[in-house]
Amino acid sequence: MAKRVLVSGGAGYIGSHVTVELINAGYDVVVADNMSNCDMTCFEGVKKITGREDIPFCQIDCCDYASVDRLFSDYKIDAVIHFAAFKAVGESVAEPIMYYRNNLVSFLNILEAAKTHGGCNVLFSSSATVYGEAENLPVTEQTPRLPATSPYGNTKQMCEDILRDVVFATKDYDGAAQGPVKGIALRYFNPIGAHPSALIGELPRGVPNNLVPFITQTAIGKRECLSIFGNDYPTEDGTCLRDYIDIVDLAKAHVVAVSRMMDGKMKEGYEIFNIGTGRPVSVAELVNAFEKVNNLKLNYKFAPRRPGDVVAIWADTRLANEELGWKAERSVEETLAAAWAWEKRLAGK
Ligand code: WQD
Repeated sequence: MAKRVLVSGGAGYIGSHVTVELINAGYDVVVADNMSNCDMTCFEGVKKITGREDIPFCQIDCCDYASVDRLFSDYKIDAVIHFAAFKAVGESVAEPIMYYRNNLVSFLNILEAAKTHGGCNVLFSSSATVYGEAENLPVTEQTPRLPATSPYGNTKQMCEDILRDVVFATKDYDGAAQGPVKGIALRYFNPIGAHPSALIGELPRGVPNNLVPFITQTAIGKRECLSIFGNDYPTEDGTCLRDYIDIVDLAKAHVVAVSRMMDGKMKEGYEIFNIGTGRPVSVAELVNAFEKVNNLKLNYKFAPRRPGDVVAIWADTRLANEELGWKAERSVEETLAAAWAWEKRLAGK
C-alpha cells in the first residue's frame, strides 16, 4: 500500500513541482489548496506530466480547522508537506495581521489535525530568510537566526519553533487518541526555474516581486525593463549575492526528506536542513547567464537598492548532502533555459 502525502498549497509553484516528484517516487498524494494565490494551471500540468488524472484535489482553506480535520478523516495521511502560506515579503510589511493570521493559523491547524489523527510526519516549508543578514557565510543550520526583517520572515521563524515544540510535546504519545508528530524544516534559498516539460512553473500574480519571473516577463515583453536593485553593494560586481536553487532539485529534496521521516531514519524528532546549491550568484551574473543561455538581450537598468535586501546569503549544504543524500544537480543555465521555456509557453509561443 503506497504511503500518502498531503501537500497543502499543492497547486502552487513549489507545491506542484513537489507533487510531481512525490508521484514519480511512488507516493500517493492529496493536494489541498484554497486557490488564493494560484489558478488550476499548475495542477492540470501535474496531471499531464504524471499521467495521473486521479490525484485527489481538495479546495479548502487551511485556516478552517473543520476542513483540515475532515481531510485527515477522509484520507489516511502518512506525511504532510505544508506550503499553504502567503509569501510576499513587501506585502507582509503592509499587511502583518493578514500574514500572521494566515501563516500561523493554517500551520497550527495542520499540526493539531496531525496530532489528533494518530500522529504524523510534518515537513515545513521554511526559508533562508530566517538567517537575515548573516555575518558568516555560507550559513549552516547552526547559524543563529537573526531577528526577522519582515512579518513574512517572522512567520517562518515562528512556525519552525512551533513545529519543534509540538514534536517535543508529542514525542511520547502512543498514537491511540493522539499521536507523535515528527518534523523537518527545509530552509530554501532562492527557488527558481520551471519543470523541463514547461507544463508547470512560477505564476506570480500581478507584478513579480522575485527576480527570475521579472526577468522572463521582461524578456517576453510583459514588462518594459528590469530594474537591478543596487549595484553599489560590497560585492565583486556591486550586485547582491544569492543561492539560486532549481525548482526540480528543490522538489526532489522534499521527497528524500519525507522518505527519511517515513522510513524512520531521523536522528532527532525535529531536524532542519538548508536546501541550496552552496554557490553564490550575483544578480548581474544571473542576468548575463539568462541572456547567454537563451541567446537574447534583456532590457535592464541599475536602480537604487531595495529596502530589506540582504547583501549576500548562500548555503552550506553539507548536512543535506550527507544526511539526506541529496545534492543540487541542475546548472543555473539549465534552470534559466527552463524558466524561459515556461514563460514562452505562457505566452503561447
Ligand atoms: C533576489 C535578488 C533583489 C527583483 C525572497 C524571500 C525568500 C524567498 C524568495 C519567497 C535581490 C534582486 C529582485 C527585481 C532585482 N521566498 N531583484 N530586481 O528577496 O532574495 O528572497 O524571495 O518567495 O524567502 O525573502 O528574492 O528574487 O526578490 O530577489 O534586482 O525586479 O534580486 O534585490 O538582490 P529574495 P528576490
